[in-house]
Amino acid sequence: MPVDQQSIVDEILRLKSERNAVIIAHNYQRDEVQDIADHTGDSLELSRIASEIDCSVIVFCGVHFMAESASILSPQKTVLLPELTAGCPMADMVQVKGMREVKKTFQGYEAQPVFAFSHEFSLLDMKAEHPGVPVVAYVNTTAEVKAHSDICCTSANVVKIIESLPGDTVICIPDKNLSAWAAKNTKKKVIAWDGFCHVHDRITVKDVEKARAEHPDALLMAHPECRIEVLEAADHVTSTSGMLRFAKVSDAKEFVVGTEVGLMHRLRKENPDKIFHALRNDMVCPNMKKTTLNSIYLALKEMNPVVKVPEDIRVQAKKSLDRMLAVK
Ligand code: 13P
Ligand code: SF4
Repeated sequence: MPVDQQSIVDEILRLKSERNAVIIAHNYQRDEVQDIADHTGDSLELSRIASEIDCSVIVFCGVHFMAESASILSPQKTVLLPELTAGCPMADMVQVKGMREVKKTFQGYEAQPVFAFSHEFSLLDMKAEHPGVPVVAYVNTTAEVKAHSDICCTSANVVKIIESLPGDTVICIPDKNLSAWAAKNTKKKVIAWDGFCHVHDRITVKDVEKARAEHPDALLMAHPECRIEVLEAADHVTSTSGMLRFAKVSDAKEFVVGTEVGLMHRLRKENPDKIFHALRNDMVCPNMKKTTLNSIYLALKEMNPVVKVPEDIRVQAKKSLDRMLAVK
């Protein structure tokens, strides 16, 4: 077992080439994990990379649903999720048949009861209440939920996806905040699930006012997982990679960043002449921080834990992801 950080990095690079592996990391990962990755990006970019990349093994530094998506899109590749308990509490807030049944049969990683949905309403119940209405599933959902949806979306393309669908009404799951943002930006009727991301949903307009008072010259960017009143008070609303693009092209020199603090690493690295402040320093997703250099090393060494979606679910879920990826 290598002891210092440089030896771990060297071992990861050696194993990566031996296994013909590629490391991909979400923008919220730890700084050193982002630095060792071959690709970093937002959920949409990572889905595209996972569908196109040429390798035998994908080491997915992110959370469970992201590794599932990689496995759905590239079933011939081995997808490693270095920390199997890195889940997304919001993704667990919608289940096909309701929480009770799912909890009994849950496999792969543990549901996190503190954030788990308390009621028994299921996606099938929602669909039965609105027959024929297409279901748009945020990628932050389980493979099984994707398999029972019509199309996926990310925070970068939600409005485009909704507008690509026939009819004047859509069901949007699971994020009530992303759905509210989409509803504001489309003429279609959006029926929302009432899930949320605990990292973004904790931000209030008071936090925005405080940040504006402390940094009067800064532009404030917010992720669409924040509450609608926070988004309405922001200067720019976009996905994590959308923030990277905006900060680069903007004439502004100072920004308040309303998303998980992991994004600060790339923002600062790619814009050394600009200043970035976290909207709140406690915008930390504990699941995104579980993956370390050590866990990447162990995953590559032991070729474990592997995330593999059962074939019947994979085939159906792939249709939803492919439909999303086909929308330009
Ligand atoms: P994006 O990087 O697509 O904006 O996703 C944010 C997120 O919360 C992922 O879990
Ligand atoms: Fe899920 Fe929010 Fe963490 Fe993203 S930041 S993985 S949406 S809990």
